[in-house]
Amino acid sequence: MSPSDIDKMRVVCRLAAETLKFIKPYVKPGVSTNEINQLIHDFTLENGAEPAPLGYHGFPKSVCTSVNHCVCHGVPDETVLKDGDVINIDVTPKKDGFYGDTSAMFFVGNVSDAAKKVTEVAHGAMWKGIEAIAPFGTTGDIGFAIGKYIQKKGLYAVKEIGGHGIGNVFHTDPFVPSFGKKGRGERLKPWTCLTVEPMINQNSAQIIEVPIANSSIKYYETHDKSLSAQFEHTILITDTSYEVLTLLED
Ligand code: MF3
Ligand code: CO
Ligand code: CO
Repeated sequence: MSPSDIDKMRVVCRLAAETLKFIKPYVKPGVSTNEINQLIHDFTLENGAEPAPLGYHGFPKSVCTSVNHCVCHGVPDETVLKDGDVINIDVTPKKDGFYGDTSAMFFVGNVSDAAKKVTEVAHGAMWKGIEAIAPFGTTGDIGFAIGKYIQKKGLYAVKEIGGHGIGNVFHTDPFVPSFGKKGRGERLKPWTCLTVEPMINQNSAQIIEVPIANSSIKYYETHDKSLSAQFEHTILITDTSYEVLTLLED
């Protein structure tokens, strides 16, 4: 990416991070995922961006809302959040032709210790993956770091889905796995961006795929309805290190 492309990535990634900060106070018992969708849709437009999920391969909404056993790509609907739920909210504004992709878990009221654990481990896993990034390192280095951490914590990382290259396209090479071997996979090139977004399950790595009407995107659930958690950041690989573009400084 050119310096001006990188500037555009910085702007849209900051907006993505601000979108999660904006939505946080609304994530309370009694709110529906459709209401979260509408709030994020409006916030994105007010900030001069477009919600990239809307219409992406036929995806019907502006944000993904993945509740409890939903692994990812949950579709906002009439579901009303209740005390004890956990939800991943995954936002991707597009501005000036560039995409910023970030997600986080939110607790709805008071949640179980099990929910806290899977959330905490998903957060730790994302950071282990990010810290394994180095220019000319590999996607296997990231996957290895995530996999090792998850195994130590006694939880399970989803294999079929993971992070991706991003920039002036939403999803591109390389695939960023949550398992792997050091030195394997694709090389990480300076001045490109990728996401790290491990999905961590409570009971097993096994997931089921559920079709979304009129879309080629699928959503995923744990096969046994046990909990799943995920965090995501967009990262710029520099010539000496990396920068987490969707992290707010304050
Ligand atoms: N934001 C998701 C990701 O992290 C992709 C959502 S695609 C959609 O890659 F169509 F489901 F919105
Ligand atoms: Co992503
Ligand atoms: Co995302």
